[in-house]
Amino acid sequence: MKVMKVTLLSAVAVGFLFGGSAPKAYPAGEVGRMVKLGEDIMAHTNTHPLTKDMVGNHLACKSCHLNGSDGKAGTADGIGTFIGTATSFPAYSKREKTVQTLQDRINNCFMRSMNGKRPIIDTEASVAMAAYVTWLSDGMPMHMDTKRPCSPKNSSRWAKNAKKFAGIQKKATHANYVNGKKLFEAKCASCHGKNGAGMGTFPPLWGKDAKGGWLAYNTGAGMSKLNKGAAWVQSNMPLGQGGTLKDQEAADIMLYVDAQPRADFDLKKGLFPAAKMGYYNSKVLKEHHSVRSNFKAFGLDVSKIRGDKVIK
Ligand code: HEC
Ligand code: HEC
Repeated sequence: MKVMKVTLLSAVAVGFLFGGSAPKAYPAGEVGRMVKLGEDIMAHTNTHPLTKDMVGNHLACKSCHLNGSDGKAGTADGIGTFIGTATSFPAYSKREKTVQTLQDRINNCFMRSMNGKRPIIDTEASVAMAAYVTWLSDGMPMHMDTKRPCSPKNSSRWAKNAKKFAGIQKKATHANYVNGKKLFEAKCASCHGKNGAGMGTFPPLWGKDAKGGWLAYNTGAGMSKLNKGAAWVQSNMPLGQGGTLKDQEAADIMLYVDAQPRADFDLKKGLFPAAKMGYYNSKVLKEHHSVRSNFKAFGLDVSKIRGDKVIK
């Protein structure tokens, strides 16, 4: 009888942890106002008056932290869910070699995935986004992560899939790129456009807008890494059909997508001048990535993969 009770309880706990939806009611008073503000920012990050100046592309947080059936950013169940994320923080991050708060982690997506600048953590926008993400873990047990700055659910999935896809991408050739282009045009272009520029509410994946501004994530973003991008896409795309792409298909599609033009990542450009910014919580103060260096990280030459014509 005692054993049964324990099993039942842990089944309920697991169901709650991985359930994939926001709590039913907003918190009362000022906390509730901040949670709602954070939710609004996540859905309109590049146009919201409090964050638009910190964004350098045409994406919102919900472009990658997808809406679940409740219509809220980050409640979808795939890789990148925010359900459970706040339970892991403060958490260690190998990239910065420091212990990161949830606000620090959010700021990393601003300067990489959003190709922008780190919001100042004392601002209402920064606190509101952290309040929203924290609300999505309300009632869940805390477990600060000593290895990775992500939720218990994302942590295992990122680590396992990134490793799997790294093995696949290291063997990539021009033939995989050609196959990736073909698959992209068949399975993705109907929403994201053949030129990757997005269409209407479907977000862009690469390239520039008419004014010369970058449309999508830069080369410092998780999505720009051949293994992590494939892991995210296999879990979440095509929209509503996550989990349908075979390993080699997801790998080839992202080999193609991540070989297209996107902004170089220069850590310094993501920081406000020191006087305004205050302290930047990282021991790594120099970082630079390009499409070329992201391919080199897997032992690949992007020119050969793309089959670029050599101009002498
Ligand atoms: C282009 C896609 C993309 C966009 C846009 C994006 N993110 Fe992320 N985000 C990611 C990826 C990929 C990861 C995991 C990366 C890793 O582990 O290397 C992540 C991780 C996170 C995490 C840790 C979550 C966890 O449990 O793993 C938080 C918090 C977060 N992002 C917040 C934000 C916020 C807030 C915004 C908007 C300002 C945003 N992100 C925009 C792709 C994106
Ligand atoms: C039915 C339309 C549809 C199809 C087909 C589709 N996507 Fe998406 N995709 C979306 C939407 C919509 C979002 C953003 C979610 C949101 O804003 O709510 C998205 C987000 C993304 C993102 C992260 C945001 C960004 O712009 O960088 C990537 C990467 C992506 N899709 C890749 C793909 C790939 C690769 C395929 C093909 C395997 C694909 N998608 C097929 C609709 C689609």
